[in-house]
Amino acid sequence: MSFEKKKEIFDNIYQGINGYSISHRGKSTMDPEDTKFLIYGEVSFAELLTIIEDSGIKDELRGLTTFCDLGSGTGMCLIGVALICPYFKRIIGVELVPALYESSLKSVQQLAQTNKKSANKIKIVSGNFLNLNFAKPFISPNVIFMHYPMHGTGAEKLYLQLEEKFRKELKPGSIIISAIRKLSSLEAFPEILAPAHIQCKYGAVTIFFHKKV
Ligand SMILES: C[S@@+](CC[C@H](N)C(=O)[O-])C[C@H]1O[C@@H](n2cnc3c(N)ncnc32)[C@H](O)[C@@H]1O
Repeated sequence: MSFEKKKEIFDNIYQGINGYSISHRGKSTMDPEDTKFLIYGEVSFAELLTIIEDSGIKDELRGLTTFCDLGSGTGMCLIGVALICPYFKRIIGVELVPALYESSLKSVQQLAQTNKKSANKIKIVSGNFLNLNFAKPFISPNVIFMHYPMHGTGAEKLYLQLEEKFRKELKPGSIIISAIRKLSSLEAFPEILAPAHIQCKYGAVTIFFHKKV
């Protein structure tokens, strides 16, 4: 299937879905303590294509099986990756805001109408990724994507906590693709490519590519 056709499938699924307002409404029903670091933003199909096809990371992804988006929002990245990267066997999302999680489930159901095989690879977890054990067999990702899920004062502490989990729970050779924030421990997670630059709806974004040693 051509990238044009895949983009058409993606655009049809996301027509009329406003992740920003779903996030805003969803967070308003949650305990403010649980939402204070959360931020919403999304990568479109074109931006995902740039990250995967134009950056050079594709060669590094060869042989890797399980993609995981930490903070998967409305599932755009999951569905985009399912369409762009048929080589992944499992595509996992984790989302803390229930309204976004519910919306992502509906989008996956919609994908199943045109592309059941890709949709069946996607599993989405409702919850906090800091509470997941990435070493558990039903998760065990070897490609992590994170699109700056947390921001504000105090978020850096959580990012360091997450990196510690990566250090303990991810297998050597795992790839971590991080938007906006470069991982802090370059000894454990060296950069393997020059950063890529994409244009999201909210502005210019740098993408960092790391590999766990
Ligand atoms: C910037 S958005 C990215 C959405 C999606 N990955 C994309 O790129 O289109 C970050 C998402 O992470 C979620 N998030 C933030 N912290 C989280 C956590 N600890 N556990 C699960 N989801 C989280 C937010 O609710 C939000 O939906």
